[in-house]
Amino acid sequence: MATLALFDDSSPPQPIADGAVWLPGFALAQDRALLAAIEAITAVAPFRHWETPGGLRMSVAMSNAGDCGWVSDRRGYRYDTCDPLSGQPWPALPPLLRELARDAAAAAGFPAFAPDACLVNRYLPGAKLSLHQDRDERDFTAPIVSVSLGLPAVFQFGGLKRADPVLRLPLTHGDVVVWGGASRLRFHGVLALKAGHHPLLGAQRLNLTFRRAR
Ligand code: SIN
Ligand code: FE2
Repeated sequence: MATLALFDDSSPPQPIADGAVWLPGFALAQDRALLAAIEAITAVAPFRHWETPGGLRMSVAMSNAGDCGWVSDRRGYRYDTCDPLSGQPWPALPPLLRELARDAAAAAGFPAFAPDACLVNRYLPGAKLSLHQDRDERDFTAPIVSVSLGLPAVFQFGGLKRADPVLRLPLTHGDVVVWGGASRLRFHGVLALKAGHHPLLGAQRLNLTFRRAR
């Protein structure tokens, strides 16, 4: 139970919808180890901007770790076992990341989460992710676990229809959000990152999104 400490900076879980929980500060105690793991991943599979099927360059830069990774190009969105840049398998998911994802899922009511994909997102000021559903995975019984590091960002959490009202969660360094069950296909997104300086990360936000893709 590496992520639980008697005295840490996290506050109680905040239920946000049926099957969706915000865990403020859940990853805080491991922030430096998480950053080191992200550096090791992106040394092998560098951040890059995918092209959308419609031909737009995504403002968020991405990499992956795990048995498969999320990729996008003119042919569509999908999971691939190899990094198209190198032709090599994605870096393995470090145990620390796997355990953090499992513990966060368990804290949100989803025991035994075993992710096979970790998307690493890098937001520089101005980068954003429009409202979308995560639906490229093979089955939707496993939750999504999302870890935020660095600059604060506004996470939009909507409903099952694009036009449904959205909650706006001000996520900060170390926060984790988990959504699954009845919330698994809720629309979500990230508003354009505001400029700022984070003591550990400088002018960026990093996000890890863990999924069971296959
Ligand atoms: C995502 O939806 O894949 C990422 C969400 C985030 O960056 O918080
Ligand atoms: Fe997503």
